Amino acid sequence: MKVPMLDLVAEHAPYRAELQSAFDRVLNSGRFVLGPEVEAFEREIGAWIGTPHAIGVSNGSDALLLALQAVGVGPGDEVICPTYTFFATAGAVARLGGVPVFVDSAECCYNLRADQVAAKIGSKTKAIIAVHLFGQCADMDPILTAAKKHGIPVIEDAAQALGAKDKGRQAGSMGTLGTFSFFPTKNLGALGEGGLITTWDASLAEKIKKLRVHGAKQKYFHELIGGNFRLHELQAAFLRVKLKHLDSALKKRRKSAQKLMISIQEKWNATMPLDSCLCQGQGSSVEQKPGTILLPFSCHSGEGEHTWNQFVIRVTGMGKRDALKEILGAKGVQTEIYYPRAMHEQECFLTSRRSFPVASMLSKQTLALPISLYSLEGVSL
Ligand SMILES: Cc1ncc(COP(=O)(O)O)c(C=O)c1O
Repeated sequence: MKVPMLDLVAEHAPYRAELQSAFDRVLNSGRFVLGPEVEAFEREIGAWIGTPHAIGVSNGSDALLLALQAVGVGPGDEVICPTYTFFATAGAVARLGGVPVFVDSAECCYNLRADQVAAKIGSKTKAIIAVHLFGQCADMDPILTAAKKHGIPVIEDAAQALGAKDKGRQAGSMGTLGTFSFFPTKNLGALGEGGLITTWDASLAEKIKKLRVHGAKQKYFHELIGGNFRLHELQAAFLRVKLKHLDSALKKRRKSAQKLMISIQEKWNATMPLDSCLCQGQGSSVEQKPGTILLPFSCHSGEGEHTWNQFVIRVTGMGKRDALKEILGAKGVQTEIYYPRAMHEQECFLTSRRSFPVASMLSKQTLALPISLYSLEGVSL
């Protein structure tokens, strides 16, 4: 038995012909970088997310870099962000000479603690990055309120959360800027690399479009120091095909997540970790005996707000997560650890010697399962 985390060949099979005709269209056009496919994709995905501006870029890491540069982050500026995230979030801050100021995670959804964001805002704070981890939105209202009070822009790192919602609002439409990744493992994945920035702000959109092409609106006349952050025509054409199928793909994914939830509850005795959301630091977790498998918790009760880009469980107790990974691996079930080390513990960020107990605990206890695991007869432990 082999259960991969993701089977992209199988996923693409139903619209293989559409992808091949998109390829032919671009091949026949002779236009390969920033052309009509990118423009059409930007219009279509902007309408899908609901923001007036959507700018296609090279990847999700560059989308973060451009967003931070657009709001003026430079050397010495502080940017508040979670420590339990993919490297690109904090990495983009450091690439601009900024200083990531980490906050701990909430034990419920693993997103950043909204109350800690407000507490960390200081005179050097230039921006806040709220990451929507694993396909579930962070608790945006307290973050937006604190940011507004201090006049600080909020960047939503929605790399993993296209289509996720917080109280009906789409990820990437709530803050000053939203950033997305189209890495193949994402719910809308390119057949290569791609990224996107969304905004309501026309002047920021204009600035980002310039930064995307070496800071020049008119070729060879450079107003800003930008770079090459262009999206390719082929990727835009493929993404246009996949965007047409995104609603049904998300629906299917949510159904699979629900089935997997039930199946591991029944077969592995997995249990809900909490009875209420802890995003704002209120409430407390329940002590669990070592080896307890905890189901993913949804903080947003609205219909279809979680997109399940990753289905992430927790296993309590020292070494118990790694033991489960090994057992599943021996049965042919691939799993992934997102992320084995929080950012404040990374060698390149060791100057920030603070402790973030929940983030450190998550890095030792979380395990991502293949969403297709639900359909198995049952992997007994
Ligand atoms: C939270 C988060 N931010 C940023 C990125 C970077 O996106 P990309 O891989 O397209 O550069 C990722 C990619 O996995 C991510 O998960």
